[in-house]
Amino acid sequence: MPAASTIRLRPLVISDAETTWKWRNQTVVRDFFSGHDYRVTLEDEQHWMQNQIGGDQPNVTFAIMRTDTDELIGMTFLKNINTNFRQAEFAILIDAAHTGHGFGTAACRAMLAHGFLQLQLHRIYLKVRVDNFPAIRSYEKCGFKVEGTLRDDVFKGGKFIDQFSMSVLEKEFSTKE
Ligand SMILES: CC(C)(COP(=O)(O)OP(=O)(O)OC[C@H]1O[C@@H](n2cnc3c(N)ncnc32)[C@H](O)[C@@H]1OP(=O)(O)O)[C@@H](O)C(=O)NCCC(=O)NCCS
Repeated sequence: MPAASTIRLRPLVISDAETTWKWRNQTVVRDFFSGHDYRVTLEDEQHWMQNQIGGDQPNVTFAIMRTDTDELIGMTFLKNINTNFRQAEFAILIDAAHTGHGFGTAACRAMLAHGFLQLQLHRIYLKVRVDNFPAIRSYEKCGFKVEGTLRDDVFKGGKFIDQFSMSVLEKEFSTKE
């Protein structure tokens, strides 16, 4: 199992959009990543990224970099950060060319460390399609537990699909693999 040092997180820069917009149009990303499933353009992505970097949204978004090649391979998010309840929603996206090598799990652990140790969060939660097996496996390895099923929570490919609600609490988080 790769160690967390196989990746590093860094702040996004606008020029990253030239790479990341292409990922949004990958079939697996359109099917499984949160949000809409229509095609995006470079201009759409630049607009979105400008909001992430310069906007006043309660979000943290990091670029995921491979440490061996220094390539940009994904993004990870803490969204809807709520400082009263000390919770936030996790999301992640890895370029399909780099999936299945442990980078997603390493990045998930690094983002949880940021959320619990830097931001002092108490609970980090997410939603995932019940048929997104690699994501569910990766999240469980990071400490997330299924807490319920959200019936017909997304509509993609002409049908409604259930999602799991998963969460990890600060007392459950461990930096050990
Ligand atoms: C989900 C995602 C972030 C995972 O990243 P990744 O780098 O591929 O994940 P990892 O390689 O760290 O771990 C995947 C695990 O799933 C397992 N896996 C892969 N396919 C599987 C399947 N069909 N059934 C069960 N487990 C599976 C892998 O074996 C691995 O587990 P292991 O390390 O115990 O062998 C990435 O696939 C992705 O970005 N997908 C598209 C967007 C997306 O779905 N985002 C999440 C939305 S909630």
